[in-house]
Amino acid sequence: TGKKPWGGRFTEATDELVEAFTESISFDARLYRQDIQGSIAHSQMLAKIGVLSDQEAADIEQGLLRIQEQIEADTFTWLTELEDVHMNIEARLTEDIGDAGKKLHTGRSRNDQVATDIRLYMREASDQVVQLIQQLQLALVTLADNEVDTIMPGFTHLQVAQPISLAHHLLAWNEMLERDVERVIDCRKRINVMPLGSAALAGTSFALDRDLTCELLGFDRPTRNSLDAVSDRDFLIEFASAASLAMMHLSRMCEELILWASESYKFIEIGDAFCTGSSIMPQKKNPDIAEIVRGKSARVIGNLHALLVLMKSQPLAYNRDNQEDKEPIFDTVDTLLASLQVFAAMIPSIRFNRDRMYQAALKGYATATDLAEYLVRLHVPFRDAHEIVGNTVHYAIEQNKPLSDLSLNELQSFGPMIQDDVYDVLTLEGSINSRAHFGGTAPARVREALDAARTRLQTD
Ligand code: ARG
Repeated sequence: TGKKPWGGRFTEATDELVEAFTESISFDARLYRQDIQGSIAHSQMLAKIGVLSDQEAADIEQGLLRIQEQIEADTFTWLTELEDVHMNIEARLTEDIGDAGKKLHTGRSRNDQVATDIRLYMREASDQVVQLIQQLQLALVTLADNEVDTIMPGFTHLQVAQPISLAHHLLAWNEMLERDVERVIDCRKRINVMPLGSAALAGTSFALDRDLTCELLGFDRPTRNSLDAVSDRDFLIEFASAASLAMMHLSRMCEELILWASESYKFIEIGDAFCTGSSIMPQKKNPDIAEIVRGKSARVIGNLHALLVLMKSQPLAYNRDNQEDKEPIFDTVDTLLASLQVFAAMIPSIRFNRDRMYQAALKGYATATDLAEYLVRLHVPFRDAHEIVGNTVHYAIEQNKPLSDLSLNELQSFGPMIQDDVYDVLTLEGSINSRAHFGGTAPARVREALDAARTRLQTD
């Protein structure tokens, strides 16, 4: 039956509009497992301190586990008039096991209960996110392994800038993802504290053993302040922020993949299994996965804003506003996990068009800086060297030649000090090999960076 557990002080029935408007069961039912886990720990603790008999605690546990089975078998009936996941499960437990069920809520409120449930949920979600990001990192590092010596143009302003190793580019993505992992792991520390015992806001007169409940549920420590415990949701905002950064990173990678897959670049081919076609243009093969992930970053960033605005004017302690935290945070978790999963699956399907990349680097005068640095080594001040090379590039563009195709005579007409060893630095290989400091793009350094990245990934 849908009799309200809080019905005692009411004489009129709840308006139907109100029931439909205030319910959260349509979206918080997914917390059933955490709710049951929390209730079992709470009842075990109540038995330990003598508020429940051992028999009552055992009945509660068995009753809750039966309910969990029914929920998972999809035979449990959720009632809107019972508002939320907490009251649905508790009401049903009492129906099933009688008086013991009525004692479960001793020393507890839905306010500390929901805070506990969402923390348990987010703890699992954080672990899943970390796992999936690392899976993506592994895919990238594996892909990079064959591309240490692959030369591509590096860009600034989306204009060809200097030649780089393709693996160096992929490892830049890996760096972003590694910081994303660190952020989620850090946020998890603040997620993993236990509100139970805070009750509605002021704590409870029962001598709850909060340390025991905490231990049973695998939390790091109980919350220190009952008011804060029932009203704090900043751990959700932190998670949404870390998720937004991760989605922003994915979106940037997607943007590059979309450009690289385009006819004008043709740097890559994404596997057929990860592209879709056009209903009208038979020739089309579109990078839709990358586009949709780029698009989905918008809703995750939007959810962060929703949560910030939700919290910003709430007085202490619990307010019903907080029921509105569920949909944005669930959507954030779902969207991030789904995006990571499909993006990571797509990565191994990418084939690089190494020749196109090489030609693009050649055409873009990507070694002009190398020529300037060559002149500096011959004691030309850098600003003068910059000017000389600028004039040389201007000339080469007019001649429609790459710098390395200019004759020594032509080069010397701009910089008389230039010798024939200049061709060592004008090649793409010479250029990247010379950037051999820690963090640079020389293949030898990139190989080391790749090995280090793989080691960090494996020891995590
Ligand atoms: N469904 C609520 C939430 O999501 C929890 C219930 C607290 N309700 C209350 N009347 N104190 O936050």
